Amino acid sequence: MSEIKRGDFGKDFDWGVSSSAYQTEGAYNVDGKGLSIWDVFTAKKGSVKANQHAFNATDFYHRYKQDLFLMHALSIQNFRFSLSWPRILPNGVGEKNQKGLDFYDRLIDECLDLGITPWITLYHWDLPQALQNKGGWENRDIINWIGEYAELVFKKYGDRVNNWMMLNEPAAFTGLGYFLGIHAPGLKGLKHFLPAMHHAVLAQASLGRLFRSMNSDVNIGTTFSFSPVDSVSDRDRDVKAAERVDALLNRLFIEPLLGKGYPAESLSFLNRLEKYIYPDDLSLLKFDFNFIGVQTYSREVVGHAWLTPLIHAKLISPRKRNVRQTAMRWEYYPKGIYRILKRLNNYPDMPELIVTETGIALKDQIEFGSIKDVDRSKFLKESLIALRKAQQEGVKVGGYFYWSFTDNFEWAEGYSPRFGLVYIDYSNQKRILKNSAYIFQKFLEDQISIHQI
Ligand code: GCO
Repeated sequence: MSEIKRGDFGKDFDWGVSSSAYQTEGAYNVDGKGLSIWDVFTAKKGSVKANQHAFNATDFYHRYKQDLFLMHALSIQNFRFSLSWPRILPNGVGEKNQKGLDFYDRLIDECLDLGITPWITLYHWDLPQALQNKGGWENRDIINWIGEYAELVFKKYGDRVNNWMMLNEPAAFTGLGYFLGIHAPGLKGLKHFLPAMHHAVLAQASLGRLFRSMNSDVNIGTTFSFSPVDSVSDRDRDVKAAERVDALLNRLFIEPLLGKGYPAESLSFLNRLEKYIYPDDLSLLKFDFNFIGVQTYSREVVGHAWLTPLIHAKLISPRKRNVRQTAMRWEYYPKGIYRILKRLNNYPDMPELIVTETGIALKDQIEFGSIKDVDRSKFLKESLIALRKAQQEGVKVGGYFYWSFTDNFEWAEGYSPRFGLVYIDYSNQKRILKNSAYIFQKFLEDQISIHQI
């Protein structure tokens, strides 16, 4: 692995940064925007660490030109961001908010003026509250609702945006929001999770068919979270517990899309899905996207646990395993990218893989006016080594988007975990480039090899 530089990944390899509307825009009730489930959820005491919210976030809504200029100055040529559904359709369907549509017009045009290619995620968790009031993802009508939204924005922006992702991490927003209740809309239990899950699996394929029908040449994908899962021991019950967690975290949403159906052999509770599955559904779960967005941050180590309902498994924390952890209390594990890419590449007919999110949360601090985030530069180096190793072993991987460009609102964790290449001083919204931003810039400009990071 000597002296690997940007060019070794291929001239068409897409290097970029990722963000999302709710975590950065702020302006939660400005210019006609409707409420999202996260605006409502964060208003409830105790939902988010220190009762923080994203009513202002990083004020990207007003400061996007400044952030895009910084991106351009750092030679970053691809920017993945999401559209705020309730900013465009305040009630989720029906009446449009022209000021919301105009904001994304300006954002896209500013990207293009700076030579930055926009990559749009349709849905990054900020469901209009008006639709949650009608059941949200539990209501099968969501497939029509999100289709109306998708058709509107593709017709509006498809002339300038050629790269689209349908959903961001359906396992996360259904699992955390409709089963564990720790994310919006804060619901708990299988009765909420099963329909939400099935409708998300239907929606990702339905949106693919819709986009393909509107433009056969558009580059479309959808994203999934993945974590390597290891058994804490080679005891059969621990190994079986790890297989169940792996099915839940890494197979449940992508395998129906690949035409393999649900992993019911590993997750017995899926036999309760019956009542939500219509006669033709199973033939509608599959769709051939141009790419699959791979989002991975760490790994899980699993042991058997009788007391845990449904999957009888427990995640053994990095602290208990006495391994290094990040500010998200996730194991520091950059080589997970290699393991996930190799595994996904084994599925027959797997489309191109793009790492649409990976990164590290640290408790960055300003020292004498700068942020020496050595551990993030180390993560960049090791994750790029892992990426290149997978690519050299034949994995069709075509892009790497660092999460995230700036520090931002980390959902239920609030603002404390900082993922950004750019530091945000939330007292005055000042942006400060971290050391890792300069390192990433030098790598992107082919000034340094991976090993010189
Ligand atoms: C996710 C989301 C991001 C998170 C990031 C860090 O993957 O959970 O896409 O919004 O902020 O992953 O947790």
